[in-house]
Amino acid sequence: MNRRRLLVLSATLATLAAIAVAALVVWHQLGGPDEGPAARAPADAEAAGTAGFMPAAEIGGPFRLTDQHGQPFAPADLSTPYGLIYFGYTYCPDVCPTELQDMTLALDALEPALAGRVTPLFITVDPERDTVETVETYVAHFHPRMIGLTGELDRIRAVADDYRVYFAKTGDTDGPDYLVDHSSFYYLIDQEGELVRMFTPKAAPGDLAGALAETLRAAASE
Ligand code: NI
Repeated sequence: MNRRRLLVLSATLATLAAIAVAALVVWHQLGGPDEGPAARAPADAEAAGTAGFMPAAEIGGPFRLTDQHGQPFAPADLSTPYGLIYFGYTYCPDVCPTELQDMTLALDALEPALAGRVTPLFITVDPERDTVETVETYVAHFHPRMIGLTGELDRIRAVADDYRVYFAKTGDTDGPDYLVDHSSFYYLIDQEGELVRMFTPKAAPGDLAGALAETLRAAASE
């Protein structure tokens, strides 16, 4: 094989590998191989111009982690009827801070009676570095009522699996300055950990606020 053909072949293989990884990420995020409608939900939701959607796949559930004060925390401990979860990590250079900020902006845009029904929750996907103290400092930047959760890696992994959250170390994975690839959605849950609705973080905070308000009003009138 000459050099040129070898180059073409390796470029093709690299492209195929990249496609396979991307497909795997989407598969992780959206709920496995036999749940096609779930995989289409976010695209449909965006096409319809709405920030909220309900996945067809089974997503959500109760969990027990440790809050930023070192106390155990489960959805049943919510002082509000609902929690709005975002999975991320405190060392995230830009995506997590932006999306947590958007979550705060959306809650602040709600009328107080509605906002008061939701507790913002941050669950780390990097428990190795995100200790209780690190999480405490972090969540204080975003919302006075935000609860930050960490725990043993296997517990975090179990919660992430329940919520179909993909995460994996990337970059300098042997050193202390690694990054964590992770999926990004907001999950509105009730006190049993049952999923009420998911929201895409691609939506502007105003659209997220609108979709949240709609969901909370609909839930209240049930
Ligand atoms: Ni992030």
